[in-house]
Amino acid sequence: MDIAHFTGLDENPLLAGLRLTRTPEPAIMVIFGASGDLTQRKLMPALYNLTREGLLPAQFVVVGVARTEMDDTAFRAKMHAAVVEHSRSGDPTPIVWESFANRLFYLPLKTYDDTPSYDALSARLAELDTRFGVGGNRLFYLSTPPSVAGEIIDGLDHARLANTSNGWRRIIVEKPFGYDIDSSRALNGQLLRVFSEDEVFRIDHYLGKETVQNLLVLRFANAIFEPIWNHRYVDHVQITVAEQVGVEERGGYYDGAGALRDIIQNHGLQLLSLTAMEPPIDFDARQVRDEKLKVLLSVRMPGPVEAARQTVRGQYTAGIIGGAPAPGYGEEPGVKPASTTETYVAMQLELETWRWAGVPFYLRTGKRLPKRATEIAIEFRSPPLILFPTASLGSVRPNLLVINIQPDEGVSIRFEAKVPGQTMWMRPVYMDFRYGATFAEQQPEAYERLILDALLGDATLFTRADEVEAQWQIIQPILDGWQHAPPPEGYPAGSWGPARADAFIEAGRRRWRRL
Ligand code: BG6
Repeated sequence: MDIAHFTGLDENPLLAGLRLTRTPEPAIMVIFGASGDLTQRKLMPALYNLTREGLLPAQFVVVGVARTEMDDTAFRAKMHAAVVEHSRSGDPTPIVWESFANRLFYLPLKTYDDTPSYDALSARLAELDTRFGVGGNRLFYLSTPPSVAGEIIDGLDHARLANTSNGWRRIIVEKPFGYDIDSSRALNGQLLRVFSEDEVFRIDHYLGKETVQNLLVLRFANAIFEPIWNHRYVDHVQITVAEQVGVEERGGYYDGAGALRDIIQNHGLQLLSLTAMEPPIDFDARQVRDEKLKVLLSVRMPGPVEAARQTVRGQYTAGIIGGAPAPGYGEEPGVKPASTTETYVAMQLELETWRWAGVPFYLRTGKRLPKRATEIAIEFRSPPLILFPTASLGSVRPNLLVINIQPDEGVSIRFEAKVPGQTMWMRPVYMDFRYGATFAEQQPEAYERLILDALLGDATLFTRADEVEAQWQIIQPILDGWQHAPPPEGYPAGSWGPARADAFIEAGRRRWRRL
């Protein structure tokens, strides 16, 4: 039931209490990088939808900051267009938009290291705080490349904006969180010099996805899965983040990052952690993140040469997607024509824990694959003996539990069933739960959930400093090994990745799922 639409809300103290606990205190949210792509595609639609659903207080103010020259009016018009184009709720309702836009402001910075700009920001925030009766709380959002994060943190420090003499201060930091282990440590160092860890919210939007959170509910609010969630029953796990899109307008960023940094280091390893973690003793930021950290620390990483051997890299070449021709990666805007950046990675990880010893976790991600599909597939061991003479052991497909994260959100279980008739024929059938078919409610966007959590001070779904560092400990040997490995193998856009990816998993007598 959607609590907000429950008509007896005010009469029911329990439900009223639930809603109250999710309403944050007044605050000013300052978005650095406000003229950028993420602000338009994700942040503004999320803020607008939170406003529309009455989840933000009336004294909530947003200030966009970037280097582009613009005034408040132009910024509001640009953000309106962004909400029209990207919001899940369609065109904004005029009265809601007006109330939101009246509290939406813009301030151009000369450069991110220009200290007078931060003094001007400080003065503007003080003025808006008084005008709207905010009371001092500030949420800073770094939607900027990691190269300027240090300058912004220094600027905030210079203007004493990170100072908590009244109200709270929090900072959300977008991915990529560093470029390698050293730069991520340096960024953590810069942040923690000015903010304390409980004020820092490193965002990974996959954690805000409803189905990712449902993985925790599936595992820890049901009794039937946990007993078989281990090496005694599970043969292997496949985590796939497949994208149909190419690099779009982000060639410049992507060419310096690649699929390993862009997806595996954060989203891929988060999905791995949530799948493999032990039950936390509480559902709170400390306990959940402690358990996820243990998974990352348990990943056995060999030296660079061997680490590179546990991976396959690919780069898309020209091909056909959905019936239309698609250019090769080297022809994308912003990409160096002779680039060796990978747009596909497949890898195998082993966890050294009692629960998972000997169970391979296969991760793969790629751009320009035939379809968009993110899922976690747990393949179970085969039955020890097949009793039915009409079936050979090889023809019985093992049980499979698939958590579909997107786009067909749901959970499905594959098992063998008898084909009706006089013979004991069998074939695999599926039990399917589909979010869309079961729940009438629209799923909130990941950024809505995460911005609200940050405003509420709940860091459960954000990445802690030690977790980020443990992620990089896994990634760094691979990056080092790739320095001396052959370049990525080409795969035509619209195919399921390089041929070597198949040989790679088949060497372990498994196959990639056909999605
Ligand atoms: C981002 C990556 O973090 O995630 C993008 O930088 C990628 O390259 C995107 O396309 C995928 O997110 P989603 O929510 O569409 O699966």
